[in-house]
Amino acid sequence: MTAPAKRTLLVTSALPYANGAPHLGHIVEYVQTDIWVRFQRMRGHDCLFIWASDAHGTPIMLKARQEGITPEQLIERVGAEQRRDFGEFDISYDNFHTTHSDENREVTYEIYRRLVAGGHIRRETIVQAYDEQAKMFLPDRYVRGTCPRCGALDQYGDSCEVCGATYTPADLLHAVSVVSGTAPVQKQSEHLFFKLGDFEPMLRAWTSGDRLQSAVTAKLDEWFSAGLRDWDISRDEPYFGFGIPGETGKYFYVWLDAPIGYLSSLLQYCRRTGRDFDRYWQPDSDAEVYHFIGKDIVYFHTLFWPAVLVGAGYRPPTSVFAHGFLTVNGLKMSKSRGTLISARTWLDHLPAEYLRYYFASRLGDGVEDLDLNLDDFVAKVNSDVVGKLVNIASRCAGFITRGSAGRLASTLADAALQGEFAAAGERVAALYEGRDLAGAMREIMSLTDRANLYIDQQKPWLMAKDPARAAEVQAVCTQGINLFRVLAVYLKPVMPRLAAGAEKFFGLPSQNWADAATPLLDTAINAYEPLATRVDPAAVKALLAASAESLKPVSAPEAAATTVPVVTAKSAAKPAKVAATSAAKSAELVAPPAELSIDDFMKVDLRIARIDSAELVDGADKLLRLGVDLGELGQRQIFAGIRSAYEPAQLVGRLTVVVANLAPRKMRFGLSEGMVLAAGPGGQEIFLLSPDAGATPGMKVK
Ligand code: 2FM
Ligand code: ZN
Repeated sequence: MTAPAKRTLLVTSALPYANGAPHLGHIVEYVQTDIWVRFQRMRGHDCLFIWASDAHGTPIMLKARQEGITPEQLIERVGAEQRRDFGEFDISYDNFHTTHSDENREVTYEIYRRLVAGGHIRRETIVQAYDEQAKMFLPDRYVRGTCPRCGALDQYGDSCEVCGATYTPADLLHAVSVVSGTAPVQKQSEHLFFKLGDFEPMLRAWTSGDRLQSAVTAKLDEWFSAGLRDWDISRDEPYFGFGIPGETGKYFYVWLDAPIGYLSSLLQYCRRTGRDFDRYWQPDSDAEVYHFIGKDIVYFHTLFWPAVLVGAGYRPPTSVFAHGFLTVNGLKMSKSRGTLISARTWLDHLPAEYLRYYFASRLGDGVEDLDLNLDDFVAKVNSDVVGKLVNIASRCAGFITRGSAGRLASTLADAALQGEFAAAGERVAALYEGRDLAGAMREIMSLTDRANLYIDQQKPWLMAKDPARAAEVQAVCTQGINLFRVLAVYLKPVMPRLAAGAEKFFGLPSQNWADAATPLLDTAINAYEPLATRVDPAAVKALLAASAESLKPVSAPEAAATTVPVVTAKSAAKPAKVAATSAAKSAELVAPPAELSIDDFMKVDLRIARIDSAELVDGADKLLRLGVDLGELGQRQIFAGIRSAYEPAQLVGRLTVVVANLAPRKMRFGLSEGMVLAAGPGGQEIFLLSPDAGATPGMKVK
């Protein structure tokens, strides 16, 4: 067999924003990338994993401001957390830089210069929401208000989460700036646009065939049919980013220089290590370039990014691999549900490597969402890794150590079986190569079952009772240990620590893929130390408790009253002007919000409440603190965002309707133990519900 030709690969994960510690939704992608990278390296290829933090944009500017530090300090601090967490998840990146770097400025300016020279940039005056108090233009996600189509309250400025309508902030009713809480005005400004349309033929050619996943190709067909719109790449000050050369008070939009971080982090790495940077990005490059990303940022990576690269005289990526979203126990990762698990919290409670295995067993090559079901996680790790895989080694090791002075036999008991395991190597490799990690794990587990069956059939523990059969015991256990060795190699991209433990047991150096084909014979092995221990379900309980504890829910009115953006960085960073095209369209790859089943609705416990007291809340000018009587359910304290419509005294003594079984929410001002129902768009137009005469506190509302 001839060795496959050595390939040169450059692989990236999406650059994480520099404003928050990673959570498991991020970790899925990095683990997926890392497994693929480790696999390529084990196959003997030259594979770099290049990465950085995504450091620019409005959310980072505001977050730093809110914490009273500079954006640079924020990037530095978050970068240290990111590196630490990624390291502990065994993400084997070669470089982790930041987009707020000299190298990124250098490459961004060069790319921009070439795009201007190529005639790919044009100017246009646009009108945008502007916050006169905060003196800043507002990204769509920083404006909230009532959906003009369905009337849903508190929707983002670009789309309605309830009815799915897409629009601009100017269309919202009762719009409010999330930054200052004031109503935005419309203001003109000249922006720079990248002429995406110039690249349509190139993009159509680049995206054709089977370069991309089928779901992505299908989406691209829709985007092409709808027409490619030019892309607004400038933002007005105040903004945290790179100033645009030759312009005053204008900055590059974060999404322009973010992917350029793929180049600039590589540039920094090459300068440090003496590698050839040009080898990767020149149009005639024979290197392969792959970007692993989430399905929500496909538009940026399959349209804008290749077009910018080609427009600037570079080559486009070889491919872009999108994955789905992570759910936890079937629920979207969400702070308020306690299903947002930070990478740190996981590391504090459970081994990273077990999560790597679980993710691998759930990740296919498509864009489907994947679920971390924690009961299934415990069962799967305990069964596959501990019960089956490691069991092979632990069943055989003692016989070799005690019965054969720690020495393996000089021949295999069943060379054909060993041959089957070696031959499976190319099948497993093809699955890894095609990112069908779940398929690879299935294949490895079926070999694991086969190895256990062999030991069950041979029964070395019975043979060992007869001293005359010592050589047979040694041969059978040598076989078992060799089968285990092959499996540890195949699993090494996913479980590098377990594989390292196995290498230590065998007394071998770091193993590559091809090493699995040669059996280990007539050699001493080391004493066996347990390579994996069972997951204790109590650790999972503690993980969930710790995740829920770290959450400090903030009510929407309270958040709007402060300068804290209530949006996540991820959503806020969607492009402003073209958001109507790109963000909304990317969102179509995401499942629509689930409808409420009658069973879910029946879970909501609505009760008549009598308001016994109502007071203003110091430091929260939108809230009232209500003391309510729920009859049989007792007295409760509820914070309600109805201050703008009611004087406290008006409310005392009246009956209304509350949700009585909402999980209590810890707020800055105390515990809120329910929710008052009201109608209306907000401001002075908030209308509390009232029952007809005869209703009494505590009555169920059905
Ligand atoms: O969506 C995100 O989290 C972005 N920070 C990803 C950027 S990927 C690349 F373009 F830099
Ligand atoms: Zn709507």
